[in-house]
Amino acid sequence: MDYTISVNAQTEREVKDTRAIPFGVQPTEHMFVASYKNGHWQNARITPFADITMSPLALCLHYGQTVFEGMKAFLMQDGRATIFRPDKHYERFTKSLKRMCMPEVPRGLFLEALHQLVQLDSAWIPAEDDGSLYLRPFMIASEERLGVKVSDEYLFMIVATPAYQYYAEPIKVKVETQYIRAAEGGTGATKCGGNYGGAFYPTQLAREQGYDQVIWTDAKNHEYIEESGTMNLMFVIDGAIITPSLSGTTLDGVTRDSLLAIAEQKGIQTDVRPLRYREIQEALESGKRVEAFGAGTAAVIAPIKSIAMDGREYDCYLGEDALMYQLKNELFRIRRGLAPDRNNWNYII
Ligand SMILES: Cc1ncc(COP(=O)(O)O)c(C=O)c1O
Repeated sequence: MDYTISVNAQTEREVKDTRAIPFGVQPTEHMFVASYKNGHWQNARITPFADITMSPLALCLHYGQTVFEGMKAFLMQDGRATIFRPDKHYERFTKSLKRMCMPEVPRGLFLEALHQLVQLDSAWIPAEDDGSLYLRPFMIASEERLGVKVSDEYLFMIVATPAYQYYAEPIKVKVETQYIRAAEGGTGATKCGGNYGGAFYPTQLAREQGYDQVIWTDAKNHEYIEESGTMNLMFVIDGAIITPSLSGTTLDGVTRDSLLAIAEQKGIQTDVRPLRYREIQEALESGKRVEAFGAGTAAVIAPIKSIAMDGREYDCYLGEDALMYQLKNELFRIRRGLAPDRNNWNYII
């Protein structure tokens, strides 16, 4: 197909003051939509943001064929807008779609749609240091039919919403050893909707116990650390960054990948391998200084103040000189055009 995107632009509406609005509630003025029918993508369009209608028979409402991505656009110091690593997000989107039997979106269409949407709604990118425009590409099965089958029709859409600091405070987490998020051979490495729906209940139980999130462990023995909520996990012990390797049951986070690259380029030791939670527990028990943090697009870096393991709570290091804050700052500087973008991560509009 050609990537002609028809644009029906809203006329000048004032951008709202969005800081006080909770994450994900206020959409920008426009959205992107394309339809998949008869084996190809068609009718790619940008329209004013509006509700969509669908039949109650639409397959996504019943069997969970839904996949999404989450990335961010930023304002650079010189006023230009930039999207952070859309190529890497595209690759993960494509991998998720394949696992869910959903059709690939051509790379050119994906990038052009993001480009045009961000350009059109660039006034919605908050200029503040902790501000960004969160971009949510997603695909849903739209064929109208109740049978349990792979859909023949889909909608691919992109919506956007201003975003600020996700967690106001360092978080409290708990190592989860009863419930699981994903098992080998399942869909843990994809961003399909069902992974999130299935994680709600154990997370809700943890919240009732006073924790912000759970640390998922492997489905077989609850021994190895996987990830947390919408974040990969990283630890700093003896000056080295330790993070679980991607086991096929965790998401290949773009933030994780970027922080590992930054660390390596700064000469910081990185140790990517299967990681037992007891190893972290032993380090904390021996009195070592342990930094722990979540890494993900929404939160960027979420410092962890304490981890509950085997019924005991352990405090992690949060001092101003923590390595996690240096990594976060470097990522911030690259995105804002304040530090060289050595890896070509910024897709400048
Ligand atoms: C389950 C899960 N793990 C990790 C991440 C972090 O990935 P990224 O850094 O690409 O946002 C996310 C967020 O997308 C997620 O949903």
